[in-house]
Order: sequence, then structure tokens, then C-alpha cells
Amino acid sequence: MEWNELMLTRKSCREYTDVQLTESQLKAILQAGCAAPVARGKYEQLQLTVVQDKKLLELIDTAAKAAYGDDSFSCTRGAPTVIIVSVQEDQGQISPMMIASAGCVVENMHLAATDLGLGSVYLGSIQAVNNSFEVLYKLKLQDGFWPVSALAVGNAKEPAEKRDVPMTKIFTNIVE
Ligand SMILES: Cc1cc2nc3c(=O)[nH]c(=O)nc-3n(C[C@H](O)[C@H](O)[C@H](O)COP(=O)(O)O)c2cc1C
Repeated sequence: MEWNELMLTRKSCREYTDVQLTESQLKAILQAGCAAPVARGKYEQLQLTVVQDKKLLELIDTAAKAAYGDDSFSCTRGAPTVIIVSVQEDQGQISPMMIASAGCVVENMHLAATDLGLGSVYLGSIQAVNNSFEVLYKLKLQDGFWPVSALAVGNAKEPAEKRDVPMTKIFTNIVE
């Protein structure tokens, strides 16, 4: 897809079919994640975890429902694949720079998914799994890594179409 069309077609998808990604689609999305800018080039402080196991996806949803105290809440949005971005703590803390970096990784993957004609959505709510020892254990993260953001991705029930995005969407002040 041409860049302008890609940018205007990207949107959050919250309804998916059961059709799983192909291996080459997953590879292209993960490569886009690895191509993202990361603060001070500290790629080793990030980890990607691909979750496609239905039971684990359900456990993530259960953990998020409990964390938000909302039984109707869906973290994974029914997507067949969730790619979790985890950040390594540094001196007992998760640096805001690394959280921002994880966001860049997710956005790159979100755009790559759009380019492939797939639906996807950024999941800030994945942080809810930090309250679940069971989910954290099953994610098999390296020591000191904590999930901070994720991308749910799959085949969208409704294909995305190019939108009109007004320049006024974000207040902008040009200071002279
Ligand atoms: C940091 C961040 C966290 C988000 N977390 C969630 C989430 O947990 N669940 C969800 O459905 N959408 C989530 N979103 C998607 C936003 O709600 C969405 O991008 C926004 O409403 C604009 O809609 P659009 O993406 O369709 O343009 C998140 C987006 C960002 C940037």
C-alpha cells in the first residue's frame, strides 16, 4: 500500500474471524516490530511474545476482566493472535523511554498488519496481566521482563477503508 493510503486506512479493529495469520504474515509483522526505533538502541530490553494458543488468550481475557473488575471487558478482542511487547526493568523500574519504545514497536506492527490487509488493535490493557502470576508464568518471559503493550491481530470481520482524517484532530499550535 502506498504510504498515505496506509496511514489513512489504519484503524483499530475489534472484531475478527477465526482465520489465523499465515506464517509469512506473522513474519512480516514481527520484522516491522524489529524495525521500530527504540530509545538508546536498547533492543535487548524488549521482548516480543506471540500468543496464539486459545486457552492462553482466554486466560489473558480472564486476568483483564479481574483486573478491571468488568466481566464484559475483552482485552484480546477475540483476535487469533496477540503479540505482547515486554520491557525489562532497570534498577527495579520500567523506564518511560522503554514504554515509549514498546509503543513504537506496536505501531510499526499495527501499520504492517494494515498493509497486509489484516485488522489489528493496540492493547494497552495487556498491562492487566501483570496481576496474574498464571499468565506471567505461561508467557515464559525472561527474568525482569514485564508486558507493557501488545497488538491484537487477525483477519478483520469488516475490511478497513481509507478514512478522511482532519488536521484538527490533534490541537496544534505553531509557535513563531
Ligand atoms: C497506548 C494505547 C493503548 C490502547 N489500548 C487499547 C486497548 O487496550 N484496547 C482497545 O480496544 N484499544 C486500545 N487502543 C486503541 C485506541 O482506543 C484507538 O487507537 C483510538 O480510539 C483511535 O481509534 P483508531 O485507532 O481506530 O483511529 C489503544 C491505543 C493506544 C495508542
